[in-house]
Amino acid sequence: MGNETITILSSREIEKMRAAGRLAAQLLAHLEPMVQPGVSTLELNDEAEKWTKAHHAISAPLGYHKFPKSICTSVNEVICHGIPNAKQILKDGDIINIDVTPILEGFHGDISKTFFVGTPSPLAKKLVEVTEECLRRGIAAVSPNGRMGDIGAAIQEYAESQGFSVVRDFVGHGINRVFHTPPQVPHYGTRGTGTKLRPGMVFTIEPMINEGTYEAKVLKDGWTAITKDRKLSAQFEHTIAVSRQGADILTLL
Ligand code: MF3
Ligand code: CO
Ligand code: CO
Repeated sequence: MGNETITILSSREIEKMRAAGRLAAQLLAHLEPMVQPGVSTLELNDEAEKWTKAHHAISAPLGYHKFPKSICTSVNEVICHGIPNAKQILKDGDIINIDVTPILEGFHGDISKTFFVGTPSPLAKKLVEVTEECLRRGIAAVSPNGRMGDIGAAIQEYAESQGFSVVRDFVGHGINRVFHTPPQVPHYGTRGTGTKLRPGMVFTIEPMINEGTYEAKVLKDGWTAITKDRKLSAQFEHTIAVSRQGADILTLL
């Protein structure tokens, strides 16, 4: 599908997306208390898979382009797409992004947050807080008469003003019955440029913000993306619909 075909969802379809998005937010809230020193990322994955099935949903990541697990768990220098592993045990001071995408009645809900394991360093705390604020500002920049570049500009301006960098190699995406579909949603850019936003468009905003360089590399497992300088990276994600008022966040509790 080319960049020219951006699906506009009906209000009925948007309500289905909201049901999936709410379930995604509930799943993340269910996992949050498990984020403690001593837990493995595989235990988080297995609980997520069990909970998702119990709620009559399907884990979209499992088997997606051969991704081997049900959620992504991205610790410290991992930017995104970290693979849960029994040998990866969380320790005090780590940060971990948990990214979940249940499919409910055919529709995807995509959300992620970065959590502190125990007590964060002042730098980790600042990075995570700035990244959450980047998502907030990106969402606030959505307007039914605006352009995609408005979102990236808002995020990039704030991240860089705080001394951090914006990942270029991974972007937000259109989402509906399909996990990843046009438009692309860069978290950097120039106001007034890019795809025109229209009511009924549904996409994610999911800024990945780095302590050091924005450059990424993918490990030999084919998935795990890490910072080239191995410094910290944080991420927050919501799925939103463009409405006549601005952004309608679909991944809320
Ligand atoms: N949920 C991720 C996103 O925000 C995508 C994960 S794809 C996977 O787009 F295969 F790694 F699960
Ligand atoms: Co996601
Ligand atoms: Co996403």
